[in-house]
Amino acid sequence: MDWKEIYNSKLVSAEEAIKAIKDGDKVVTGFACGEPFGIERALVENYENYKDVQIVNMLTLGDSPWCEPRMKGHFTLNCLFASQSNRKAISTGACEFTTSHFYEIPDVIKNYICPRVSLVMVSPPDEHGYVSFGTTVDYTRGTTDYCEVVIAQVNKYMPRTFGNSIKHVRDFTYFVEIDEPLPEVKDVEISETEMKIGENCASLINDGDCLQLGIGGIPNAVCAQLWDKKDLGLHSELVGDGVVDLLEAGIINNKKKQTNNGRTVLGAAFGSEKLTKYINNNPSVEMHPIDYVNNPAEIAKNDNMVSINSCLQVDLLGQVVSDTVGLNQFSAVGGQVDFVRGATMSRGGRSIIAMPSTAKRGMISRIVPIITEGSAITTPRNDVNYVVTEYGIAQLKGRTLKERAKALILIAHPRFRPHLILEYKNRFNEDAFTKEELKEQIELIKVHISNSADELREKLHEDLKKLLKH
Ligand code: COA
Repeated sequence: MDWKEIYNSKLVSAEEAIKAIKDGDKVVTGFACGEPFGIERALVENYENYKDVQIVNMLTLGDSPWCEPRMKGHFTLNCLFASQSNRKAISTGACEFTTSHFYEIPDVIKNYICPRVSLVMVSPPDEHGYVSFGTTVDYTRGTTDYCEVVIAQVNKYMPRTFGNSIKHVRDFTYFVEIDEPLPEVKDVEISETEMKIGENCASLINDGDCLQLGIGGIPNAVCAQLWDKKDLGLHSELVGDGVVDLLEAGIINNKKKQTNNGRTVLGAAFGSEKLTKYINNNPSVEMHPIDYVNNPAEIAKNDNMVSINSCLQVDLLGQVVSDTVGLNQFSAVGGQVDFVRGATMSRGGRSIIAMPSTAKRGMISRIVPIITEGSAITTPRNDVNYVVTEYGIAQLKGRTLKERAKALILIAHPRFRPHLILEYKNRFNEDAFTKEELKEQIELIKVHISNSADELREKLHEDLKKLLKH
């Protein structure tokens, strides 16, 4: 049969297509910019017709309607990356959460979660009958190989991408044509602190390095500092808009890559229309399944691989917490450990964990003596090498526990250093600094305490007093 006949025979309304979903089903859906909201809306509107259906999704940019009280007994959400709309529901138990390194997620979904149905979003078919998974190849494309029912939202806004991102119309059960702009991740303005962090990260990046950029405000700040570099490569699980100007200017040209030479490799595009337009029909960008992109052994095949990811907390041993705040799930490990390990294994590679030195509008230090009770370690201390804040760079590999702690104190916000210096003494039974070094530290600390918020100042003065007593 001609592909057009196949396509037309499978073309139905969303309401018709979702009749293939049965009570008790597990339904995996595309994520982020590739989430098929057109089909999901039909499910939400008809929720009372379903019993005990689990929606499995990596990370949604939508409202997570599955977590609303009215959905109880009808739908639950099982996500693999917490987002703004379901963080609270995870902490109250109204949303399920599954933890996994990103490179393993295709296997975890296929062989452990075992969904029967897959909902995806694709581009309209080309003249040969192939649709593209566009922004979102990761675990999504693979579901069409093993799910019994595959329903695709065909959306003209979904870009057509190269790499391993296509499937023939034969491989789907139903098509639902709904054109709607893709969900977007908009750039936020880069703060002064992030700019400084970007500068510090850029000082660790050399011409010819191959980069992975994580998520959050810092990757864009790093991109802003790369304009004097040349011949950079990009092999990243996902990227935002920040890389587009560098790619267009040829600063990132992928010339020095050992794998996929001359091409950017991504698992997902996580930006706005600017990024979507760039990857559309662009043969220099390859989208691949995440068990290839994030596989540490594949990452390591590129020399001088540099991974840059962010975190929420680091203790004085260099243990990194990136996805929980105490018992609350904030995000997920994503590809952080995949890339930290891949970069470490790469010849000449480096892993960077970059973060602002404080959180909560400067009220708390992200560098702490002991991780907050209940938090999970995302990246173990043995994997961590460079930790970067706006105050500098701590290099941890090959360092003793005392050297690590001292290096981390020196990149903590000065106003929180007295507490950390005292904790160092408690732990190691010796002073962190010589008298001269301490004198210099105290001058700096005093300036920063006087600039602190009123409600903090008293406590900070207490810590400083205790330190001066020693
Ligand atoms: N204690 C309590 N709250 C904290 C905190 C801490 N130690 N550190 C940060 N927070 C708060 C911040 O104040 C902020 O809250 P607010 O918006 O109310 O002020 C919130 O947590 C987010 O922090 P921020 O640093 O701004 O987040 P971000 O958007 O830059 O993202 C990570 C940073 C670490 C959450 C994000 O990079 C992540 O999820 N990483 C794990 C996955 C990963 O690295 N994947 C890599 C490949 S994509």
